[in-house]
Amino acid sequence: VILTQDELKKIAAYKAVEFVESGMVLGLGTGSTAKFAVERIGELLRQGKLQNIVGVPTSKMTEEQAISLGIPLSDLDSHPVLDLAIDGADEVDPYLNLVKGRGGSLLREKMVEGVCRKFVVIVDESKLVKHLGGSGLAMPVEIVPFCWKFTAERLQSLFEDSGCVAKLRTCGENGYPFVTDNSNYIVDLYFKKDIGDLKAASDAILRLAGVVEHGMFLDMATTLIVAGKHGVTVKNK
Ligand code: A5P
Repeated sequence: VILTQDELKKIAAYKAVEFVESGMVLGLGTGSTAKFAVERIGELLRQGKLQNIVGVPTSKMTEEQAISLGIPLSDLDSHPVLDLAIDGADEVDPYLNLVKGRGGSLLREKMVEGVCRKFVVIVDESKLVKHLGGSGLAMPVEIVPFCWKFTAERLQSLFEDSGCVAKLRTCGENGYPFVTDNSNYIVDLYFKKDIGDLKAASDAILRLAGVVEHGMFLDMATTLIVAGKHGVTVKNK
């Protein structure tokens, strides 16, 4: 049997939900992989196999999904430390550093996942990379709308040596800027060459006024679950 990418995502998600225990406060991730985990948590709650779960959603989309499933929700004000978060990623390197945010939510994800005792990342094997940002795909940066061109240009020139091109993310055909859950914009950085030291890149991006957050999640994930054609593997940091 050849499994589709969606089936692999679901296998990884279901495996991650095995880490969930009754009474936990959970960070609920965002995206096409995380949505299977949220769905599964809802199902186990409904069946009474899980009880007293509180979810902290990482986006408006996940919030809506969790509400529709009857998962009780809260926030970081009431729960500044969480037991476990489960979320997908766009890229995962061998050290469990991630790129996230291609689906548009990264700030809430980083806030929530940064205070979890355990952060389980769920991916199908297509997400595994040697170096973050090396795949020619977007490295998302959330910025304030004020003078976004100015900020995009500064971001691009930070990584001139890596052949960086910064593009404002837009919605569909109309070309309007994509607006995040926090009313910000996203600039996607595309690199022609390796960006080198990730921590240095992260610091440089965050130092720019106008930047809110970026999609590199360094040293945050504690567990990686990968579903591939040869089965599912769990790797701890
Ligand atoms: C949401 O913006 C992201 O950070 C997602 O976690 C990431 O894009 C992975 O999404 P998929 O599971 O849909 O690939």
